[in-house]
Amino acid sequence: MKAKIVITMVGLPARGKSTMACKIAHTLELDEVKVKIFNNGEVRRKLAEEDTSAPEFFSPDNLKGVAFREKCARINLDLARSFLENDGEVAIVDAGNVTRQRRRRIGETFPSIPVLFIECVNADGEALEANLKRKASLKEFSHLSLEEALASFLARISYYERIYEPLHEERNHIRVDSFEGCILQEKISDMIPYYDRIRDLITTRIVKNLYLVRHGETYYNLEDRIGGDSNLTDQGWAQASALAEYFSTVRIPIIFTSSCQRTVQTAAPIAEKQDHCTIIALPEFNEIHAGVCEDMTYQEIQEQMPSVANARKSNKYGYVYPGGEGYVTMEKRVHRGLQKVFYLNSYDDDILIMGHRAVNRMILSDFFFRPKQEVPYIYMPQNRYYHLQIDPYKKHFELKTYTKTAN
Ligand code: F6P
Repeated sequence: MKAKIVITMVGLPARGKSTMACKIAHTLELDEVKVKIFNNGEVRRKLAEEDTSAPEFFSPDNLKGVAFREKCARINLDLARSFLENDGEVAIVDAGNVTRQRRRRIGETFPSIPVLFIECVNADGEALEANLKRKASLKEFSHLSLEEALASFLARISYYERIYEPLHEERNHIRVDSFEGCILQEKISDMIPYYDRIRDLITTRIVKNLYLVRHGETYYNLEDRIGGDSNLTDQGWAQASALAEYFSTVRIPIIFTSSCQRTVQTAAPIAEKQDHCTIIALPEFNEIHAGVCEDMTYQEIQEQMPSVANARKSNKYGYVYPGGEGYVTMEKRVHRGLQKVFYLNSYDDDILIMGHRAVNRMILSDFFFRPKQEVPYIYMPQNRYYHLQIDPYKKHFELKTYTKTAN
């Protein structure tokens, strides 16, 4: 018989627990482990006869709400127990599990199976705020305006905060920063099956499908002019609608763009063809800022500032435009943008990033190591896109065509 384990997620709402649970489940499945997630929220939504999205439902003073949520938790624990009593190997209990009492009860339900608690925290206020906004736009809150939904979700969180007890006495626990994707603390007192695998995948980015697209042609592109905030040309709009057609059969809930018009314009027709797709503009994905050279053509730079043009040619990665950026100084912000993408995107969903030439090169090299001097020359056309897939066994990327239109 294979080893069995109960993984229990712990954390306040919007801390990335379900994303982590899905990632663990999916990866262990690849290892042919029989794993199942038991999500309390799903049971609550199925059983509830009335609306349970109002914040008061989650108040510790609302005895009816407390009893109902405890009932859902018990149902899930019973389901998890019978799953493990049959041929199940890993049961993941996905809920807040914020009190010691609740966690003790989980331990008591599985007296002979080790329980590993995984607590998800996130200290990055900006990313958390973005995640709250995204959650507020979900179907559960569709009867409210965005502001009302946000207020409602924040009130729900504050009820959980009132009773939140961080992990401490639990024999086996691990605290994870779900934004940074790193382990902050671990305490392991028993033999925990699959533990090495679990630790590895907590810290590894797994990508089912990531479509890395460059914006369509702009007026600046026609003139070989850099930077700025130019609009798409007719050709650029044609590329955007070809992309929209091409991706219409793929489910994309969020498109991540920069805050420049050309990426948002290219993303808009794609979003329109989807059923409920949000565009999230991340300034971290803005194109390299060329400082004193912004809005100039490469030829003008060569003629008017030959020292800049030549210095950049001799060390393109390390060169920083006067008053602007270089590849070397973009590295951190682009990496942070990617962390936001993974934090905001549900694990199961495909990801589309609509970026720029230099930014997309940096994104690609963040996943697939390239010696730094090669990065500024990675091919980044406007009539094709990169398709990335990464799991613990392989990393794959492919340059694909979405239209026959010439670049
Ligand atoms: O020309 C388009 C552009 O996105 C510019 O805005 C940017 O400065 C440039 O490409 C980055 O490419 P490279 O590093 O090769 O100059």
